[in-house]
Amino acid sequence: MFLSRDWKDYELIDASRGEKLERWGGIILRRPDPQIVWSVPDREKSELWRKADAGYIRSSKGGGSWKTFKKIPEYWTIGYKNLRFKITPMGFKHTGLFPEQASNWDWFSDIIKNSGRSRDNINVLNLFAYTGGASVAALEAGASVCHVDAAKGMVARAKENAALSGLSKLPIRYIVDDVKKFAEREIRRGHKYDGIIMDPPSYGRGPSGEVWKIEDELFPLIEICVNLLSDDPLFFLVNTYTTGLSGSVMDNIYRLTVRKKFGGVSQIDEIGLPITNGKLTLPCGCAARWQRRD
Ligand SMILES: C[S@@+](CC[C@H](N)C(=O)[O-])C[C@H]1O[C@@H](n2cnc3c(N)ncnc32)[C@H](O)[C@@H]1O
Repeated sequence: MFLSRDWKDYELIDASRGEKLERWGGIILRRPDPQIVWSVPDREKSELWRKADAGYIRSSKGGGSWKTFKKIPEYWTIGYKNLRFKITPMGFKHTGLFPEQASNWDWFSDIIKNSGRSRDNINVLNLFAYTGGASVAALEAGASVCHVDAAKGMVARAKENAALSGLSKLPIRYIVDDVKKFAEREIRRGHKYDGIIMDPPSYGRGPSGEVWKIEDELFPLIEICVNLLSDDPLFFLVNTYTTGLSGSVMDNIYRLTVRKKFGGVSQIDEIGLPITNGKLTLPCGCAARWQRRD
């Protein structure tokens, strides 16, 4: 498993019976997670769970909402290595950051740093880029970045995260667009990228209501993106948290696309977080990592 082990400001404290207990800086949150089908002994008696400051509570009618148990700020920030992010309890049980992604950030940051290329010669495209975790990591590592997401609010948050991380002056383009339309436009413009990152949801919508369904759209999008890679690309990363898209499916897709065109090597595995209590691990999806060279 690709485990994100280097967090100091974030900790997955415990996980039991469909819920996780997490520390985000000084704030403790509980959130539902359908992967957590197990239960740890003595959870009811545990003081740990009583420490939560707020939690996302599922409603019996579907969905849910945040409830605060103690006073918490509207937003606060946490750091990862040289990066800083704004955290807020948001819709869909989100906080504005996926901490398990840190292991992906570290992986492509090392490739960027070890490439020996200058920032002008490393263009990275981040699709479904959300609040910009991967964008700021690539920027900090030494790449020029193009950040694409359908949601204006998420793109605004990515700008805030770049500013919090002290990276505002570095070359990053923020695009509010449908990923497929944007990628097709980039092909027509003849733009090329040395690294491509995407973290697609199972279902989503572009800014004009364009429907994204991973099972129908993922393969064609990857085919388009492979044609956006430069002649000597560095890496390609697809992260999925959709249950049902196994590592073998991603391996097949890579054999038919990026490995067919460029050779190179891919590593596909679950991505996850260590759980402090009980020394368990929480799987958070699948990362398919391709690079031109070892
Ligand atoms: C949950 S996020 C991905 C997580 C993120 N990459 C990270 O690790 O922090 C999914 C994002 O995809 C965006 N999205 C969904 N459908 C889209 C589409 N058709 N075009 C562009 N963005 C889309 C959403 O606005 C959302 O921000």
